[in-house]
Amino acid sequence: MSDRDAAQATPAPSRTAAVIPAAGRGVRLGPGAPKALRAVGGTPMLVHAVRAMAASRAVSLVVVVAPPDGVAEVRALFDAYPLADHDSTRTDVQVVAGGETRQESVRLGLAALPADVATVLVHDAARPLVPVDVVDAVAAAVRAGAPAVVPALPLADTVKQVEPRSGEPEPVVATPERALLRAVQTPQGFARAVLAEAHEKVALEGEGATDDAGMVERLGLPVVVVPGHEEAFKVTRPLDLVLAEAVLARRRANDGF
Ligand code: CTP
Ligand code: MG
Repeated sequence: MSDRDAAQATPAPSRTAAVIPAAGRGVRLGPGAPKALRAVGGTPMLVHAVRAMAASRAVSLVVVVAPPDGVAEVRALFDAYPLADHDSTRTDVQVVAGGETRQESVRLGLAALPADVATVLVHDAARPLVPVDVVDAVAAAVRAGAPAVVPALPLADTVKQVEPRSGEPEPVVATPERALLRAVQTPQGFARAVLAEAHEKVALEGEGATDDAGMVERLGLPVVVVPGHEEAFKVTRPLDLVLAEAVLARRRANDGF
C-alpha cells in the first residue's frame, strides 16, 4: 500500500473520552472532605464514577477534574484504587485541576483532551452508581450522529414555577404539565467540536451552567434525550448518601448469588 492509500485508510479520529467534574466542595452534603472523595460502601464516590465510565467499552480515556488544591491527592487515589481489576479495555485516567464553577471545571477538562477524541461524555463525580447501560446508550447515540445526548427520567413530583421570596410564602406563577418534563442526569454525550464551541461561545455569568446540554441548546443545536436510570441519581444532600449505600449494598448482595 502506498503512503497515500494508507492515509486514506486511516479512520477519522473516533476515540470516546469521559470528563468527570469532581472539583466541587459539596456544600449541600455538609462539612467534611470534598464530596467526590467521600466514601460510598467504603470506596470514594469518584472511584465509583471513574469505574462506571471505564466499564463502557466505548470509553478509552477518563479525565478527572480535581479540586485545584487536591490534584496530588486525587492522583494518589488512582494508585490506591487501580482500574485494572474492573476494566478489561485498559482505560487511561488523567487528573487535571478544576475551577470555581462546574462550567469552568468542564472547560478545563475539555482542554486536556488529546486531538483524536471525537466524542465526549461529561459525567458528575457525584453520580457514582450510574449503570453502564446508560453510559453505553449515550455514547452510542452520539456516535450515531446526534450532536448532544442527555439521559433523563420523567418526574415523580409535580413542579411549580414560583416568584422566589425568602421568609414568606412564595406566589405560584405557573404549573408546567408534568408529562412534558424530564429530570436530566449524566453522562451527557457530545460531538467534541459541539461541546468545545458551546464552552467558547456561551459564557454564563455567576454560577455558570449546571448542565452542559443547556449550553448546546443556546447555540441553537438539537439535543436529544435517551432513557436515564434511577440509580444514576446525584448525591447532593445527606439523605442521598443513605440511598447510595443501600443501592450498593443491594448490588453487592445480588452479585454474591
Ligand atoms: N463541580 C466541579 N467544579 C466546581 C463545582 C462542581 O467540578 N467548581 C462538580 C462536582 O464535583 C460534582 C458536579 O460538578 O461532581 C455536580 O455538582 P454538584 O452536585 O453541585 O456538586 P458540588 O458543587 O460539589 O455540591 P454543592 O453545590 O452542594 O456545593
Ligand atoms: Mg454545586
